[in-house]
Amino acid sequence: MADAKKKGMMMEFWTEESENWYLDSCRFLNYPEIPLGEYFEKAIRPEDTVFDLGCAYGITSLYLAKKCSKVYALDFSPRAVGWLEKHIKENDIDNIVPVCGRFPSADIPVCDVTVILYVNKLIHSLDQAKAVLAATGREGFLLVNHADETGSIHDLALNQLGMKGSNYVCRNGCYVVGLFEALGAKCDCHVIEHDYGQPVDSIEEAARFLRSMLRFGEDMLPQLQTVAQAIITEREGRLYLPNNRRSCLIHFVK
Ligand SMILES: C[S@@+](CC[C@H](N)C(=O)[O-])C[C@H]1O[C@@H](n2cnc3c(N)ncnc32)[C@H](O)[C@@H]1O
Repeated sequence: MADAKKKGMMMEFWTEESENWYLDSCRFLNYPEIPLGEYFEKAIRPEDTVFDLGCAYGITSLYLAKKCSKVYALDFSPRAVGWLEKHIKENDIDNIVPVCGRFPSADIPVCDVTVILYVNKLIHSLDQAKAVLAATGREGFLLVNHADETGSIHDLALNQLGMKGSNYVCRNGCYVVGLFEALGAKCDCHVIEHDYGQPVDSIEEAARFLRSMLRFGEDMLPQLQTVAQAIITEREGRLYLPNNRRSCLIHFVK
């Protein structure tokens, strides 16, 4: 695996199960309009080109394509980019360019606006911050996990199990702001609180979802069914695992 990474080969990020959960929750919760529509509305102009970096299935690309002239949608997951290619073909969408590749080596023209939503581990150094600014014509958005995880699905589930701590990690938004500012960009930060939970069809499925989020082994499934029973709610006629998530939205302007 380490060798494959060194050679720049594509590591698959998604599975059939995570794809179904992700697409279902985006549809159900109207992501990304909620919670980001108001921020995009103020920044993105009809004549703009937009770079959706780490676009996954292009859900944000599909949303932004209606508000700008062209979207370049980049992800290193062949599975996700393949889904987007098929979707835009079937729906005659002609202003999204899906690209399967890895940032920063992928060949993408400089776009007016860069959008990077929940692409963990993307910026850890001045050079990586420089690469993001170099790819950006005017301004951009970076959305990362906030340090406070209270109310998140990890927090709720681990509390039920009587466990402390979790694998939910603050993604160093403040550090990235420091890097951007050191490179001359202006940043404004917003704490975004939204329910980014998961609709499911059964308690068994809820337990499988929790296992995947918490990165537990299969042996935890019976316990996770009990946890799921305790935290599950109903929303718009479906079983629903709430996830009150706090994120940092960094808006940077060159
Ligand atoms: C958690 S998903 C976020 C998807 C989407 N942006 C959203 O807001 O729902 C992160 C995505 O980033 C992609 N990714 C991570 N690092 C990348 C890189 N260096 N270049 C291209 N894609 C990357 C992964 O394949 C994955 O699809």
